[in-house]
Amino acid sequence: MAMTTSGVTVAVVGATGAAGQTTLAILEERKFPVRELRCFASERSVGKTVTFRGEPVPVQKIEPSAFRGIELAFCSAGSAQSKQYAPMIVAAGAIVIDKSSAFRLDPRVPLVVPEINPHAARTHQGILACPNCTTIVTVMPLKPLHDRARLQRVVAVTYQAVSGAGVNGIADLRDQTLAWARGESLVARHFAHQIAFNLIPAIDAFRDNGYTGEEMKLVDETRKILGEPDLPIMPTTVRVPVFTCHSIAVTAETETKVTRDEARGLFAAFPGLKVWDEPTAARYPMPIVVEGQDDCYVGRIREDLSHPRAVSFWVVGDQLRKGAATNAVQIAELIFA
Ligand code: A2P
Repeated sequence: MAMTTSGVTVAVVGATGAAGQTTLAILEERKFPVRELRCFASERSVGKTVTFRGEPVPVQKIEPSAFRGIELAFCSAGSAQSKQYAPMIVAAGAIVIDKSSAFRLDPRVPLVVPEINPHAARTHQGILACPNCTTIVTVMPLKPLHDRARLQRVVAVTYQAVSGAGVNGIADLRDQTLAWARGESLVARHFAHQIAFNLIPAIDAFRDNGYTGEEMKLVDETRKILGEPDLPIMPTTVRVPVFTCHSIAVTAETETKVTRDEARGLFAAFPGLKVWDEPTAARYPMPIVVEGQDDCYVGRIREDLSHPRAVSFWVVGDQLRKGAATNAVQIAELIFA
């Protein structure tokens, strides 16, 4: 699809999925200079269309010749697909911004949150990785605390929306909720258990150490983004019956004490963060108010009652936007600015 005579030739791989659809919306909203757009998904979707700037764009078959002339590709079709396609797309001459976990811990691949480590983007060798959605929302408020008082240890418990698992996760919550309202039995198709009216304390497969893949991503990726390979992090990740937005309860121990007011000021001054912290007025971040926002919202800011140098807070981010598509488009803006 030809768009303008100047700008960037862009591919979106996984364009029919939850993150791919949000990527198209964000490219449009942020007026990224798309000269030409080519969209890709699985072979099942070839021939269907997606919409960009109000116009239908056909979904194409993934093959090397389809990427000729592409300068920038966003990939959100899953980790196995990224491993298969990203090298081919780079060989065709494009820069790949990958939203899967395929390359995040590869030392040759920068793992970028533009507000935190924009300098890392300059070191890319064709592929740049976008962190896991929960990692992005968690690391945003950790960065200003770390800069001010050096993090010593982080404890994070997550409340993750079903759309983090893609369109099939959304369908499970919707179908089960409708079935419940009709008095029918609830069937789990995507998640291992019923998700409506339930919590599932297991996201991704379990490792030998008893932690899930999602929990280890939060540990490994946060360390890489902050450049602190030994930072102690204690994660628990939970899938909750919320459509959009991940919420994380975080306790951060620091080398020097940060008061509640200082923490509030640090969060408020950090780009991409907003403070919503008036508990007596029932004002604190919640998924239903943060959905659709690019900023992450922090509230319930407290000094830890059980530790002399720790603050606790609650951060909520739209994981399809800042947790995925917005962060990816911001990386593209760093490169193509
Ligand atoms: P499709 O819609 O044709 O299945 P989500 O994360 O929301 O589940 O979306 C996954 C995205 O990745 C969709 O666009 C999906 O396309 C795409 N996808 C899944 N498997 C493949 C594959 N083998 N090759 C290319 N794209 C794929």
